[in-house]
Amino acid sequence: MDYERVESDVLVLGAGGAGLRAALEARERGASVIVVSKSLLGKAHTVMAEGGIAASVANVDSKDNWKVHFSDTIVEGAYLGDWEMVEMLVKEAPERVYELERFGALFDRTPDGKIMQRAFGAHTYRRLCHVGDKTGLEIIRTLEDRILHMDVKVMDEVVVTKIFTEKGSVSGALGLSIREGKFIVFSCKSLIIATGGAGRLFLVTSNSWETNGDGMSLAYMAGIPLQDMEMVQFHPTGMVHPSDAKGILVTESVRGEGGILLNSKGERFMLKYSPERKELDARDVVARAIHKEITEGRGTKHGGVYLDISHMGRAFILKKLPGMYDQFMSFAGIDITKDMMEVAPTVHYFMGGIKVDPSTSATSVDGIFASGEVAAGVHGANRLGGNSLADILVFGKRAGKYAAEYAHKAAHKTINNSDIIDSIGDVTKYLNQKGENPNPLMDRLRKEMSTHMGIIRDEDGLKTALHNIREIRSKAAYIGVSGTPKFNQGLISCIELANMSVLAECMVLSALERKESRGAHTRSDYPSKSRAFKGHMICGNKNGKPVLSFEPVRPMPARLARLVKEEVYV
Ligand code: FUM
Repeated sequence: MDYERVESDVLVLGAGGAGLRAALEARERGASVIVVSKSLLGKAHTVMAEGGIAASVANVDSKDNWKVHFSDTIVEGAYLGDWEMVEMLVKEAPERVYELERFGALFDRTPDGKIMQRAFGAHTYRRLCHVGDKTGLEIIRTLEDRILHMDVKVMDEVVVTKIFTEKGSVSGALGLSIREGKFIVFSCKSLIIATGGAGRLFLVTSNSWETNGDGMSLAYMAGIPLQDMEMVQFHPTGMVHPSDAKGILVTESVRGEGGILLNSKGERFMLKYSPERKELDARDVVARAIHKEITEGRGTKHGGVYLDISHMGRAFILKKLPGMYDQFMSFAGIDITKDMMEVAPTVHYFMGGIKVDPSTSATSVDGIFASGEVAAGVHGANRLGGNSLADILVFGKRAGKYAAEYAHKAAHKTINNSDIIDSIGDVTKYLNQKGENPNPLMDRLRKEMSTHMGIIRDEDGLKTALHNIREIRSKAAYIGVSGTPKFNQGLISCIELANMSVLAECMVLSALERKESRGAHTRSDYPSKSRAFKGHMICGNKNGKPVLSFEPVRPMPARLARLVKEEVYV
């Protein structure tokens, strides 16, 4: 099989906010950069962070500062967030926002012309700088615009199937151009994985179709450990109706701008679960509350609860939430200025992912870096809304810097032709073997994950899931589709299923081992937090088999520990 060869100093996998910010930084530091994207440029999951970017610029609440943001992030991450990463996140986020403004992002404004900020769950102050309910979209638009005016090559609709290493350091990657059906060998001195999360491992998710955890799986296959894989964020509010729209995000800004949650009896149930914060408690708390209302029979006929903002008035809603107005009008024929929405939790974000060095975003393989949702560490057991957009800019820039610095000192390594041929064979085998079709297996995998790795978990369910996922994983080696590599969605599904089943096994193993409830991980059989589990589940790859280990959280220096508002922490 023929292949094309391309070369750059830095190769970036993923064209969401983290990938684009990293590419920009590496290019500005003099490295030649190629960005590879599985989907079309601009179609990133970043756009699903709608409500804003968390940065303590204190334009609306003058008492806000990085210290309060630090405390909020550590406490709501249930003390699993790495203090060094959190400190960088909260200290650097304001400058990343101003920089975005200089790049041309059009933020909403306060009456005196400053960047507008809104309330979001479990943030002490109104902290989210925003562009209506399309903040992620504006960030992608701004970064994309900048990238296109720099000498950065973007290769979209290319699925990367392998990362090559040579004597413990990166040498390149193999990609398949979906449009042309041809293989591409990328030779690079350093590589940044910024491919986002893995929401599509579940049936109901806000994530786009491409979000199958490819980058996490590529890293794991290259010998890089994964961390906190049991920590999956269920956003409290996704659409439930019509079925085609199930899971699509209903931004937290609806609640941030005054929306209230009601059950089918008309009760504002968050008063019971969280009398002070009500609808604006942390996502894990609100998602569990909604889940309980639904499972105890107080849900709506489409299996959700109501979310009402109509009392805020039409002009206000159209100004603050134009995207939500359009979304409900076009998908469900509902006018949210008059009628209630129906919502239920939807898988939105992975707190876990590739284990990285906190200050450089480097992984355990020399020359490979990771940033954004694909990387673990900063959000601990539960992410605050708006912290992901801050994360992609802060750590995207950092990864770009360190990858460029690494590339300046490194040389291109040879990629063995036999490795290339073998890796191409790992893909084309799906066209040659007459195996089961990948799609029913993928559906089964999603069902297992949704049934047993959902908001509430227990030992029996997790053991069942583990058994079934292992069976799916072994069958995934023998699947097959017909046709050629060109525009072959079946072939892409084969590649994705292999990635997904690896991750699913790591996730379930980690969830089984964490015998406590912490942040987004709730075990009905272990309902409390336990000090013994104040640390990270690390899933390593030993000869193709996942091996778990536990790493305690790094002790926080006293200068930071004194900022954390809840002193007794487990
Ligand atoms: O609800 C939202 O707008 C999502 C934001 C986020 O995930 O940070």
